[in-house]
Formats: sequence, structure tokens, C-alpha cells
Amino acid sequence: MLYMSNISFNKNGPMVVTGPIVVMTKKGPIKVGAGEKVYLCRCGHSKDKPFCDGSHAKNGFTADGSSDE
Ligand code: FES
Repeated sequence: MLYMSNISFNKNGPMVVTGPIVVMTKKGPIKVGAGEKVYLCRCGHSKDKPFCDGSHAKNGFTADGSSDE
């Protein structure tokens, strides 16, 4: 089966990336397997960057999403 990476955006929330990809972090590379999802911060408030830790909801972050979900 062929898997392709995909990027979408949650309204008022993180970027959602579907693997296969490798996320480069300060702690080293993190592999995201085919079909697995990772949520990346785009509000700038996460204490676990590059990952979303839910802080966007407490800080009133607003941004368009890439779907009507
Ligand atoms: S987008 Fe969720 S903490 Fe930044």
C-alpha cells in the first residue's frame, strides 16, 4: 500500500501531519509512521514545541482551518 504524507490545519488549533514523516526536534528525530498523525504547534504557546500541547485553547489562538470540521 502506498502512503503519502498529508498536512492539514485544525481551525484555531494545530497543524496535523499524517506520516510517514520524520519530525526533527531538539531531542532528535521522531519517526511518524504511515497513517499516524502528529499535531504541530502553530500558535507559538506550546511548551513542547514543535508539538501542540493544547495551549492554543487557553491563549485564544484563532486561525482558519483547512476543512469545515
Ligand atoms: S497550536 Fe496547540 S499549542 Fe500551539
